[in-house]
Amino acid sequence: MSQIMSGFRKEKEKAVCSKTKYNDGTGGIASPPCRCLGSEVTQKGPGRPGSKMAADPGPAGREVASQSLLRAGTVKQPALLSDRVTTMPRKKEGAAPAARKAPAKYKLAEEFPQGEVLTDSAKKQWKLGLPIGQGGFGRLYLANENSSKTVGPDAPYVIKVEPSDNGPLFSELKFYMRAAKPDMIQKWTSSHKLKYLGVPKYWGSGLHGKNGKRFMVMDRFGKDLQKIFEESSRRFSHQTVLQLGLRLIDVLEYIHEHEYVHGDIKASNLLLHHKHPDQVFLVDYGLAYRYSPEGVHKEYIEDPRRCHNGTIEFTSIDAHKGVNPSRRGDLEILGYCMIQWLCGKLPWEDKLTDPNYVASSKMRYSDDIPSLIETCFPGKKRPAFLYPFHYRKPQG
Ligand SMILES: Nc1ncnc2c1ncn2[C@@H]1O[C@H](COP(=O)(O)OP(=O)(O)O)[C@@H](O)[C@H]1O
Ligand SMILES: [Mg+2]
Repeated sequence: MSQIMSGFRKEKEKAVCSKTKYNDGTGGIASPPCRCLGSEVTQKGPGRPGSKMAADPGPAGREVASQSLLRAGTVKQPALLSDRVTTMPRKKEGAAPAARKAPAKYKLAEEFPQGEVLTDSAKKQWKLGLPIGQGGFGRLYLANENSSKTVGPDAPYVIKVEPSDNGPLFSELKFYMRAAKPDMIQKWTSSHKLKYLGVPKYWGSGLHGKNGKRFMVMDRFGKDLQKIFEESSRRFSHQTVLQLGLRLIDVLEYIHEHEYVHGDIKASNLLLHHKHPDQVFLVDYGLAYRYSPEGVHKEYIEDPRRCHNGTIEFTSIDAHKGVNPSRRGDLEILGYCMIQWLCGKLPWEDKLTDPNYVASSKMRYSDDIPSLIETCFPGKKRPAFLYPFHYRKPQG
């Protein structure tokens, strides 16, 4: 936690906004006013319904940032999560986040029958099993390498399918093709002495059928953490939250080093491995953004047309302002998730329908972390490891 929060803080201090910082007239440097606040919420791109407001993840063609934000490397693996996730005693509280539906703009792929064989762009054949779900933009099927056998419930792969004229799988696919090839992940895992890395592996992709439905083959996972969170009265134990934080820092270090930021970290995008439920994986790269193409970091620009992108309760202050997703934002989002997992509810969750309220609450608390900690953990309920963030420097 301290690694996460200190990373988050340090990055905040670095304030990418520095390019647009201005003197506030008191001798200090103030953040520029957010052009999104007080203005009508506008969305660009797919605009997923529910609490998630998605942006068009932007054109492809952005690149590496050499500098590593995070360092987690050789941390010992936890023996928890899934059936071992340590949860708090059940209490009635809080509603599940709004379900996500496919926006009207995007057609869902037609059903493919079980047993259908798909050939990827490398001419490898894959056989479909039963559908296992439907995301905002595509259908998911169990799958295996093609053989005479039927694809059973234990299949090791999942195929995500959607019509080829849809944007989201295309940009997600770009991420997987650039950064999630099995040999890249394997190399990183061994060089960083990790037991595993929570980035799903990409196994292939192609177009299938007359109308060219785009598909992508990836690892198959099990339950998502949001379900476990709801089943556990919306609380995870301190140990679970810290372990999740460490594993996610491993993931963020990897994807940040490979030119990308995720932009939508949350429990419903964290899936447990279906065979090894002590392992957690970050999925859904539909909003992932290549923040530094060819080593040139994307410029800090506040674009009112893309304010509040991401999932409203967790999205970063930058995203609220319509700035492209950043490494700093990923850490901030992770920080909000961890606080929610610890205390059950973020202070702005009562008014998620008002993005300007959510944005200004986050901005206010970011200037006063001790008051965020006090609000989330009133009285003596505060975990000891949050002490450094609750500590107020003596005045004068
Ligand atoms: N590789 C996978 N294996 C098993 N289930 C998956 C996999 N990928 C996604 N899912 C399930 O589908 C849901 C939606 O997938 P996701 O990639 O997050 O798409 P969306 O953009 O709709 O959120 C996830 O929350 C998870 O329950
Ligand atoms: Mg998702």
